Amino acid sequence: MARHIVARTSDIPLGGNKVFGVEGRDIVVFHVNGEFFALLNRCPHEGAPLEKAACVARLTSPEPGVYQRSRVGELLRCPWHGWEFDMRNGQSYFDPKRVKVRSYPVAVESGEELQKGPYVAETFPVRVEDSYVIVEV
Ligand code: FES
Repeated sequence: MARHIVARTSDIPLGGNKVFGVEGRDIVVFHVNGEFFALLNRCPHEGAPLEKAACVARLTSPEPGVYQRSRVGELLRCPWHGWEFDMRNGQSYFDPKRVKVRSYPVAVESGEELQKGPYVAETFPVRVEDSYVIVEV
């Protein structure tokens, strides 16, 4: 899996998202609560763009009449038919083993870390024989 630098952190506002074309795929990156999540921008049901999904909270009920919200903004509700997915891994809640959105690892790194890079110039052996320099390619 190759690494792709897609944006500055400031390009994706808190609570918002942005779509990037990466190796022929539309990938949507969400910025939620200071974290970034990347998913294929396509609902597995009928293909709705998930960039238009509502970012909602997880709602649980420990007993009748009592509701608790958690993980605010981390769940996606598809704009077309309301299927819901976990932004962290693309898992659906109604059929977690069979239906999910493709998710991708995201890392945030400083420009200095990126600058180091794995850049290696191609080198060739050189030797001198009498008065001739010989390069082997
Ligand atoms: S296209 Fe997403 S729920 Fe139908």
